[in-house]
Amino acid sequence: KQEKFQKIYELYDAAQKLYTHILLNTTAGEQALAYLKDDRQLDEETIRQYSLGFVPSNNVLLSYAREHNIDEAVMTAAELFIERDGELTRDRFNNRVVWPIKNDRGQVLGFSGRSLDPDNPAKYMNSPESPFFNKGKLLYNLDQSKGNIRSGQAAMIFEGFMDVISAAMAGVGGAVATMGTALTEEHVRTLAKLNDKITLVYDGDAAGQKAAKRSIPLIRSVAPEVEIGVIALADNRDPDEVRRELGLPALKQALSQATQTPTEYLINAAKQGKNLQNQAQYLDFLKEVWPILAAASAVELDYFLKKISEDYGSSLDSLQSEFEDYRQKHPQ
Ligand code: UTP
Ligand code: MN
Ligand code: MN
Ligand code: MN
Ligand code: MN
Repeated sequence: KQEKFQKIYELYDAAQKLYTHILLNTTAGEQALAYLKDDRQLDEETIRQYSLGFVPSNNVLLSYAREHNIDEAVMTAAELFIERDGELTRDRFNNRVVWPIKNDRGQVLGFSGRSLDPDNPAKYMNSPESPFFNKGKLLYNLDQSKGNIRSGQAAMIFEGFMDVISAAMAGVGGAVATMGTALTEEHVRTLAKLNDKITLVYDGDAAGQKAAKRSIPLIRSVAPEVEIGVIALADNRDPDEVRRELGLPALKQALSQATQTPTEYLINAAKQGKNLQNQAQYLDFLKEVWPILAAASAVELDYFLKKISEDYGSSLDSLQSEFEDYRQKHPQ
């Protein structure tokens, strides 16, 4: 069994090397390389650093595996091929740019592939869950960022692969991403063992805000000792779009700004889309604020009640009494 595992790891490595070779050195990879260089603004050194690849539609890995007499059981277990009628018939990631997904020791355990066709509804496709590939455990780029996080740089959690690569280009040492799944307890435990600072940098859109609202209480409950920071990006952009549309210096600046505390971030998020001069919308805002402040420290509670009083003209007494009402009805 140990030997079979070894063979599977070797197949993952061979697949990665083959796909990278095709991307960088063959005509079959030309279009994908142009996409990465021109549209995604990556240089060849970065493409190599992250071992990006391209899978042409001619089942090149399947041919490779047959030529090298790789065990059928090894091929099946690696989940790199599509099976039909009990037979492995094609490369799973055909016609996609691929990002190898590695564990924290840098061993390839699977891939995520992006379609170049903007009309493809499955923009990204991951390796299926298997004993090797577990999205709830793996963090993209942890192999390259682990040392930096352990030696003091905050772990920065992004939504996507390209966001991690863009952040690294901007000088961020601790960038990781979850892969199309929400952050899990296991992810948090992994990062909390390395450093007591975690910064969330989700896309500046509604989905990113939703992810932050979910991740903050999760981190607080799994690792209360961790200091959470949030970086909010403007105008629906993700970090990679900030780099490509506003430039690398703009991304550097966005990622090196002082982080918001979760309470600050959540209160700002509650303000969004509301006209707080309108009475009904102001009351809706306060309803969203109470649970946020119920999870905040005493100093934060004091600060934000005063701030809301100053900003919107409610007396501090009335705010305090409404908050106390809320707390009585919702004991922790
Ligand atoms: P996004 O839609 O924000 O993707 O989804 P992105 O990273 O900005 O992709 P680009 O820039 O268009 O290439 C965030 C993450 O959700 C997962 C991927 O991991 C992606 O990075 N995802 C997204 C999927 O798994 N499948 C999808 O179809 C879309
Ligand atoms: Mn998104
Ligand atoms: Mn995005
Ligand atoms: Mn997007
Ligand atoms: Mn993006």
